Amino acid sequence: MPEYTLKIRRYLPESGEAPYWEDFKVDLEGHRSVLEGILTAKGEQDGTIGIRCSCRAAICGSCGVRINGRAALACKTHLEEAHEGSQSDGDIVVEPMGNMPVLKDLIVDMDAVHWKKIQRVTPWLLPEGPPPEREYVVPHEAMVDVTQSMACIQCGACVSDCLSMEVDPDFVGPAALAKAYRFVGDPRDGQHEERLKDLSEDPAGIYDCTHCFNCIEACPKGVAPMNQIMRLRRLAGDDYEIEDRNNGHRHEKAFVQNIRKNGLLQEADLLPDSYGGKFHPNAVPELFDSLPVIMTALMRRKVTPGKALRHPHRKEFRNLRTYFDKIESRDERLELNLYIVGEEEEGDQDIAVETEGSSA
Ligand code: SF4
Ligand code: SF4
Ligand code: FES
Repeated sequence: MPEYTLKIRRYLPESGEAPYWEDFKVDLEGHRSVLEGILTAKGEQDGTIGIRCSCRAAICGSCGVRINGRAALACKTHLEEAHEGSQSDGDIVVEPMGNMPVLKDLIVDMDAVHWKKIQRVTPWLLPEGPPPEREYVVPHEAMVDVTQSMACIQCGACVSDCLSMEVDPDFVGPAALAKAYRFVGDPRDGQHEERLKDLSEDPAGIYDCTHCFNCIEACPKGVAPMNQIMRLRRLAGDDYEIEDRNNGHRHEKAFVQNIRKNGLLQEADLLPDSYGGKFHPNAVPELFDSLPVIMTALMRRKVTPGKALRHPHRKEFRNLRTYFDKIESRDERLELNLYIVGEEEEGDQDIAVETEGSSA
């Protein structure tokens, strides 16, 4: 039987001692899970290892840890897969999830961060008017649209690896915003606009996400929280025309127009365009505020004065505008719901349409 080495980060905050790494060797088949490896080490070598788990079948969401630096469910990760992905001479490095305080070893305080943020988005339906005599009848396609966000098992993996949350712990975050879409996308909820306005106006709301894709990679259930955040933004900015005071929607529009015009991002225009153009009164104070960032970018040569002032509108990018024209000329916005997969079968035409795209 192969032997795997688990390098586990040990830490007991109230002990006053610094965290340290401890190696445990376990004899298990490679198809067994990292969770089984940890539980074997706990059962046979050191009963004090702290790990939270329950279902062992990727359902309850309680065994989230970081394996080789990335958040994952320990019960859904095979030992051989973790061994092959190791960047530490084959040792499987297991540590607690990020962005949440550690309670003990691999156990983090989900209440302090994850659940607090879920509560922030009012995670229940707020229907308007009296309830129907019998059940609510919901269009099938509307529920397909929220199925992806409903698949969340609240494991916190996306929260752990969210780069924005690392910089701004107040950020509402990927799991809670995916939860918010679950209700904004539900036709039974009567507070869509209020929810969207709230999350647009919050400086730590939907416009605080930096599109790093980490939450999509980390999520073991295909919820793709970043996609749900983008859906919230499109609904807020395009459908409800919410002009948030964080300037998030205008910034996004300026970004798209910048690419449309230049083919590649012309950073020097982006900031003033987000505030209505270089000579707009709102742009001047923002430019002054951003001077330290601009100076750092110049010093690190991320931007050079030549490129900033003379950006070539290159001919080869002109074709790009035809894509914009094509997309913008559509009557209805189409969005791929990548969570719904399957083959079209006879008599299943309705479902097939929804698998290809659903409007949000
Ligand atoms: S895409 Fe946005 S929400 Fe997702 S991890 Fe990155 S910053 Fe966080
Ligand atoms: S969105 Fe995915 S990664 Fe985030 S809490 Fe839900 S299941 Fe876990
Ligand atoms: S133990 Fe339930 S998800 Fe891993």
